[in-house]
Amino acid sequence: MNKTNAIAIDGPAGAGKSTIAKSLAKELGFIYVDTGAMYRALAIHMLRGGIRLEEIRNATDGNMPAAEALLPSADVSLQFEDGVQQVFLNGENVTAILRTQETGDMASAVSTNEKVRARMVELQQAIARDNSVIMDGRDIGTVVLPDAKLKIYLTATVEERARRRYLELKEKEPDTEVTVEEIAKEIEERDHRDMTRTHSPLRKADDAIELDSSELSIREVTARVLELWEQKG
Ligand code: DC
Repeated sequence: MNKTNAIAIDGPAGAGKSTIAKSLAKELGFIYVDTGAMYRALAIHMLRGGIRLEEIRNATDGNMPAAEALLPSADVSLQFEDGVQQVFLNGENVTAILRTQETGDMASAVSTNEKVRARMVELQQAIARDNSVIMDGRDIGTVVLPDAKLKIYLTATVEERARRRYLELKEKEPDTEVTVEEIAKEIEERDHRDMTRTHSPLRKADDAIELDSSELSIREVTARVLELWEQKG
């Protein structure tokens, strides 16, 4: 079977997927596709359409008729400017407003819906057909690119992921009063939803290589993945 010239990186929230994927993409001259950003753009569409997180946060079976009804009016597309992904929602560049806690939680909830997933997967596979990609997400190795030449499952302890998120947030918003414990609780809730949903739950593909980044630097993880890539020849 012909393998796709792609690297798939899956794993829970905050394991360092995007940081690693970005530096690998630069090194290899691949396009980095952040699929979480696509679900986040849809989440913004749903929030603007009046869907509240509380209404759908427990629907791990993806049953959310009101949100589904908004799907036909959402056009999510990607463009790459100097290799950097820009996400468009109905023609508006929403890239700068995607990375909030609310959007992440809403994306996790919305992504349990089967129709939402089908739309996103189709778009992601089309991009991978035309480009050499490093794609990160939750279902890349299992569903989107099952033939990817290299699959990585990147993890880290909840404590370490919460600590990293906290430092990131403190840098952006020095006055924030959120605690590491609160962030850890949110991470655990999101992991649980992403791993237990009915459609394409987060799981390690059988042929993925698991890397725990808890005690490794970005450079160390990147070097390890590059080594694995080179071994794939
Ligand atoms: O990676 P992220 O935090 O930006 O992703 C936001 C949410 O989107 C995540 O909690 C679950 C969902 N998601 C998904 O279901 N499948 C993907 N391939 C990427 C993200």
